[in-house]
Parts: sequence; C-alpha cells; structure tokens
Amino acid sequence: MKILVTGGTGFIGSHTVVELQARGFEVIIVDNLSNSSIDVVDNIARITGVRPLFKKFDLMDPVTTAAFFQKQSDLKAIIHFAAFKAVGESVKLPLKYYRNNLDSLINILQGMINNSIENMVFSSSCTVYGQPEQLPVKEDAPVQKALSPYGNTKQISEEIITDVSITANVKSILLRYFNPIGAHESAMIGELPLGIPDNLVPYITQTAIGKRDYLRVWGNDYPTPDGTAIRDYIHVVDLARAHVIALERMLNNQMRKNVEIFNLGTGKGCSVMEVINSFEKVSGMKLNYRIMERRPGDIMKVWADTEFANRELGWKAEKGLDDMTLSAWNWEKALAAKS
Ligand code: WQD
Repeated sequence: MKILVTGGTGFIGSHTVVELQARGFEVIIVDNLSNSSIDVVDNIARITGVRPLFKKFDLMDPVTTAAFFQKQSDLKAIIHFAAFKAVGESVKLPLKYYRNNLDSLINILQGMINNSIENMVFSSSCTVYGQPEQLPVKEDAPVQKALSPYGNTKQISEEIITDVSITANVKSILLRYFNPIGAHESAMIGELPLGIPDNLVPYITQTAIGKRDYLRVWGNDYPTPDGTAIRDYIHVVDLARAHVIALERMLNNQMRKNVEIFNLGTGKGCSVMEVINSFEKVSGMKLNYRIMERRPGDIMKVWADTEFANRELGWKAEKGLDDMTLSAWNWEKALAAKS
C-alpha cells in the first residue's frame, strides 16, 4: 500500500517513514526541503534498505499539488507533517505561517477530494491546549486561544479538517504531540534544527558538543517542584510508531468517528532541570547552563492524559527520559563526526 508522507525529510516525518517501511508500506515523500536536507532520504534508505520515493515541490502551490495528486491514483492515505513549527518565528512572521501551514493543508485536502483519497493522519500539537486548567490534559479539554500564530495554525487546521470531513469522504486522525525529542538508535536520522535551536534538547546537545557556549534555562521561578517548567517529553520513535498504528486503524476501518483526536505523550511531566540531569547522567558530562528570565509565551506545565490512545490505539510510549537524552546525544555526536 502506498502512503504519502508530506514533510517526510523532517524530524518526525523521517522517523515515521522508517517505521512505515518496517511495516511494509510503500512510501512517497513530498518535501520542499525548506527546513530539511535531501540527505535524509539516503539515510532512511541506509536504515531500512528501501529508498522511499521522493518529490520536491511546494505544497503551497495549488497547481503543482493538484497535478501531483492526479498522478498518484494509487495513494491509500496521507500522513501530513509539512508545516513551519517555530513558535517564536511565527510571532515575527505570522503571514509566512498562515500561508504555508494553511494553504498547504487546503491544497492537500482538495487533492484528496479530487482523487478519492479518504484517509489523513494529521500532525497536530498539544499547543492547542495552551495552559490547561486540569492536568493531565484530556483530548476533550477546551482548546484555548492560541498563544502564537503557529499554535493558531494547528487549531485552524483541525477545524478545517473537521469541516471537510462532514461533507467530503475524508476520514482523519489528529495526533496532538507533546514534546518530541531523541533520535533513531542508528544515529543516522534525528532532529536537525537549521540555525540556533529554539527547542530545549537540541540546544542541550549542541552546548555539550561545543557549538553553543551555554544553555539558557528560561526561568526557575515557576511554582513547580524545582522551579523550572514542566513538559511531557516523548521519544520520537514512540511517536512515529503511533502514526503507523493510527494509519492501520483507518485502513482497517476501525475508526468510530470520521475525525478522531489522540494525545501522543508519555503521561509523565518532566522539568527542564530533570532533562538536564538526565542528559548529564547519560553523557557523563557537566552541562554549562545559566538561569535566565522566563521566555515570553511559555506555559508553566503540561502533560498528557494518554488513556484514550492507550486503550483505543493499543499504543503506549515505551521509552524513558534517559533513552531520549542518550539517543539525542548519540545523534549530535554522529553529526559532529560527519562535519
Ligand atoms: C521546552 C522547555 C522552555 C529552550 C515545543 C515546540 C512547539 C510544539 C510544542 C509541536 C520550556 C525550556 C527551551 C532553551 C529552555 N511542538 N527551554 N531553554 O516550548 O514546549 O514547544 O513543543 O507542535 O512547536 O516548540 O518546547 O523545547 O522550546 O521548550 O529553558 O534553550 O524548555 O522554556 O520550558 P515548547 P521547547
């Protein structure tokens, strides 16, 4: 069965392609390489022994996207990752985010309708919850006003997909990621932030490898056990495997509704200091960090209620924080060895 993975040379996309191929799916990747490298396709092939099909074009272009779909009559489903995701950049360049993230989605949905492709797995985010009133946060928690244009594009995307599924023959599973970190055990694929990383773990590993002077810890005056903010960090391979399970649920007609939403987290919250301590333990290194002011827009604490995904998908995150930080460190060292 042929599956389209948009954004398949990105961090989560590439790990999902590896898991799809391991389950025997044929994969075609579409990516404009605006935030990733073509080398990822070769590295996926080195891991799985199968080189995914690859097409480079911009999904924001309606003509190219429509022409692509017309030629892909054998597509069974789409896993849609392609989007910009830097929270801070989205505040500075909102139109870049609204145009890219929403136009791409709309062009894909139009292509699905025109070519009778019925299944989409969509990359959503816990960002839609904002700072939840109740923790752990459940899928039916109120969606709060987004704190950034990036988060708003995820909320609007969920609404667009839901509206389309009411009238068109499109089923969709929306996967709300918590904080994906880590890398494939082969250290051949991983998180590859272009420029200065926004996210915690790539900044930690780049500091340890010597690319950054020190990690800035954005605030230790939160009302949390150690004062630093809490997130639900999930290993990217656990996350990737959930996409394959969600896809098979659709293809086996096991969905109960046309649109289903699942939290993909571990159900466990970890603080910034706990991540740092885990990294120091697995690497045997002392991390250079400084406590700074809080980062505007950050929420204090969030972690997932994963009961629905555990029960309905039969999926549960298996890897712990030390697995995540060690695999991220191995990936950073592999990158340094190549440069
Ligand atoms: C985690 C914690 C920071 C960097 C991410 C993605 C977003 C969305 C949700 C997908 C926070 C602290 C960070 C640093 C730090 N993912 N931190 N120093 O903000 O939870 O959002 O997950 O949709 O796209 O960005 O992740 O890794 O930026 O921050 O102290 O240099 O680490 O304050 O508490 P965040 P993050």
